[in-house]
Amino acid sequence: MSTKIIFERSRKGRRGYKFPKLEIPEKKEEELIDKKFLREVPAGLPEVSEVDIIRHYTNLSRRNFGVDVGFYPLGSCTMKYNPKINEDVASLPGFQQLHPLQPEEHCQGILKLLHETIRKLCEITGTQWGTLQPFAGAHGEFTGLKLFRAYFDKRGEKNRSKIIVPDSAHGTNPASAHISGFDVVEIKSNRQGMVSVENLKDHLDESVAGIMLTNPNTLGLFEQDIKEIADIIHDAGGLLYYDGANLNAIMGKSRPGDMGFDVVHLNLHKTFSTPHGGGGPGSGPVFVNEKLVPFLPVPDIGFKDGKYFFDYSKPDTIGRISGFYGNIAVIVKAYAYMLFMGADGLKRVSELAVLNANYLRVKLKDKYHLPYDQVCKHEFVLSASKLKEQYGVAAVNIAKRLLDYGVHPPTVYFPLIVPEALMIEPTETESKEVLDYFIETMEKIYLEAKENPKLALSAPTRTPVKRTDEVKAAKEPVVRWYR
Ligand SMILES: Cc1ncc(COP(=O)(O)O)c(C=O)c1O
Repeated sequence: MSTKIIFERSRKGRRGYKFPKLEIPEKKEEELIDKKFLREVPAGLPEVSEVDIIRHYTNLSRRNFGVDVGFYPLGSCTMKYNPKINEDVASLPGFQQLHPLQPEEHCQGILKLLHETIRKLCEITGTQWGTLQPFAGAHGEFTGLKLFRAYFDKRGEKNRSKIIVPDSAHGTNPASAHISGFDVVEIKSNRQGMVSVENLKDHLDESVAGIMLTNPNTLGLFEQDIKEIADIIHDAGGLLYYDGANLNAIMGKSRPGDMGFDVVHLNLHKTFSTPHGGGGPGSGPVFVNEKLVPFLPVPDIGFKDGKYFFDYSKPDTIGRISGFYGNIAVIVKAYAYMLFMGADGLKRVSELAVLNANYLRVKLKDKYHLPYDQVCKHEFVLSASKLKEQYGVAAVNIAKRLLDYGVHPPTVYFPLIVPEALMIEPTETESKEVLDYFIETMEKIYLEAKENPKLALSAPTRTPVKRTDEVKAAKEPVVRWYR
């Protein structure tokens, strides 16, 4: 299959689309735009016919793997199937043609939707109020830590400079803490893969601003001591940040606010019906308990005397966190998803996500090493270290071989505390047949590793793109085309 890019397919004068004739008098470009802003030469856009463009992008999509193609158990990423109806709702003209600078009275509908989305997500997370502005989980973390800072500054506690992060944390947690001006203190997980309360106590003093946790953690394990952890952090004057990227495991069952968390972010692009990955649009809204509400970003979405409005009346606000009000289409999808599912449906999501993960965990643990052998939540982590030691087949090789069987690999080499990690998150949208196919495939790969390790070492052999130099691809990506 050719790997030409669209510019290389261009032929002068070829067209795929013609604009309809204008119904109003045509104007010259210079009459509409100041000459100094006009190009001297036309933009070098590709000139292609409709069939060229359809074939080009269809072929490109066939070189990739998506959740619409097959099973995608990429741990921590919640690659569930997202019902297409939510895409349809987000593409309704009333949403698509909105402009962020429209006056409030012209966009009461979307303001109501935003207000209700905050209210519903507060109910799900057990919090008081929130903001939909952040565009990703990491952006939510940054926002949340700015709220921590504003809260302590207002109390005159400028010395609170440390954020505690367990060694199982997602990389964005320490990165967000650092970029928000805090010092990161890493604490070791105990032998059960959880935060050790004793170890935590050793790190507490007046310079601690708080702790960032995801619960269940990245091993898929629920932090059983969470109430005690919350109490000791609060007693030390600190705050608790909940990384809600793993909410799919507990939605409708337990609430971060009830566990004692002060600030929560969610990844709508995982739990709430937006496909995740590929750098597509995301949304990482942030929710807080009562004591942090005054610091939330502006504009907030207010409701008074039967009208929704942009609310700037927050003297202690951290200010704007995005240009406008967030990734509206993603928020619309999340809202539609919550309405379609209802409270019972959302509970069922987490029940099935947990059931599916435990089914795989039990079926796979005889062949692959399971370092933390406990009932898990929505995901679990295997280790390929024994296969690597005995047959030279590492996690990366298992991942590549899975592609040959039409399955997207699990997350590999994360969390960092498990050597040769394979982090598996099946999600709730997969049937038993799909899970059984995955089990069968993993067993086959295990046998292949013993009998003919070359198969895994040279995989993938059945995909349009074979094994790539991942380091080079990451370090020297070619993302521009020069004529
Ligand atoms: C546990 C956890 N926290 C935070 C994030 C960061 O979210 P985002 O990629 O939207 O910035 C992720 C992303 O996969 C995650 O898995």
